[in-house]
Amino acid sequence: MHIASVGVSKFCFLFSLAFCGLLLLLIPAFQPPALQVDLPQPRPQIRPTHAGSSHQTRVPAVSVLAGATDTATGLNGSSLGQGETMEMEVTGGDNYRLVDSPKSIDRGAFPAWKAGGPLGSTSHDPLELKDIFIAVKTTKKYHKSRLELLIHTWVSQAKEHTFMFTDGEDNELRMRTGANIINTNCSAAHTRQALCCKMSVEYDKFIESQKKWFCHVDDDNYVILPSLLRMLSSYHHSQDVYLGRPSLDHPIEASERVKSDGSVSVKFWFATGGAGFCISRGLALKMSPWASLGNFISTAEKIRLPDDCTIGYIIEALLEVSLTHTHLFHSHLENLQKLPTDSLLEQVTLSYGGFENRRNVVSIVGGFSLVEDPTRFKTVHCHLYPITDWCPKIKPRHKN
Ligand SMILES: *[C@@H]1O[C@H](CO)[C@@H](O)[C@H](O)[C@H]1NC(C)=O
Ligand SMILES: *[C@@H]1O[C@H](CO)[C@@H](O)[C@H](O)[C@H]1NC(C)=O
Repeated sequence: MHIASVGVSKFCFLFSLAFCGLLLLLIPAFQPPALQVDLPQPRPQIRPTHAGSSHQTRVPAVSVLAGATDTATGLNGSSLGQGETMEMEVTGGDNYRLVDSPKSIDRGAFPAWKAGGPLGSTSHDPLELKDIFIAVKTTKKYHKSRLELLIHTWVSQAKEHTFMFTDGEDNELRMRTGANIINTNCSAAHTRQALCCKMSVEYDKFIESQKKWFCHVDDDNYVILPSLLRMLSSYHHSQDVYLGRPSLDHPIEASERVKSDGSVSVKFWFATGGAGFCISRGLALKMSPWASLGNFISTAEKIRLPDDCTIGYIIEALLEVSLTHTHLFHSHLENLQKLPTDSLLEQVTLSYGGFENRRNVVSIVGGFSLVEDPTRFKTVHCHLYPITDWCPKIKPRHKN
């Protein structure tokens, strides 16, 4: 009798203990689901292929020479100064297959904030061009040959929101075109220091502007504004978003000299500056300790990397936010002729080959001949905005 009652109370004690334990385990399950806003930003575009996942090709390039050799080493489009050396080791990582295509936008591969998203804000508050700060990096030497073409074409559609960062006064151009031309007072040399100086001014001006997105392009890029808007509308500016085309097919590796003494190395992706990239305001604000008020220049000096690599370093290595790889941005280092004509106008940026490669232009017909429009930017513009006064009213030719 006595023994039995002890057994029962022991059983009750153990049972209530187990019950309490179960309750404790279940508590997280009863929590309201976290708002989706706090979830990491959507990165649907990249998928490792594992085709050769075990391979680790070591490129024995301890000192990567810039300029003519940067393509050879795979550093496509990085604005590494001519004759600049970059002290780092380039290590091959996994192969990544980039699965986005311009068409995928239409198929809804981009995250749809509109479609029943927790905020539902996109439908009430659609992104507009005025929300985007577009920075064009240029140099006085190219005001006539490159900048005027941009001002004449895509910049005319986003004049108040596009800012040209240069290194010399040009009141004549400013007066004549009404363009926002900002003299950075940086050196006109194509060195790492001068380029980082300009990026530093771009960053500060963006922060000052209160706009939602920072997009950087070069003076040989055509920005297809409707595509840019469509792409950015898929994200929210308060999320951590860094969008661009990786220059390499693997992350670069550099000595960590900001958080440590340089004895350890870090691997990170960066978006090639020559194709353009975009950063959300939320993320840009987090970059401030390493990017604002001249800090960008000292960060770049510490790791001895060009401006676009330094952006990647701050975002991927220091803030641990990943680059969202996209192939909608294009630089002059790609084979632009290979871009499919039918999806050309869905790309975000286009470019053209420079003096050394005049034939490297996008293939698009109509509007102007190759002689009249060697960069094809005017023709692209007339396809996008056919009512422009200087666009041909009829298409007199079918061949260039
Ligand atoms: C460049 O120098 C001029 C003249 O001193 C000054 O007005 C301008 O604000 C400077 N630009 C920047 C971006 O600091
Ligand atoms: C760099 O550009 C060249 C020529 O446009 C291309 O063949 C090569 O695949 C590119 N390399 C990378 C890593 O993107």
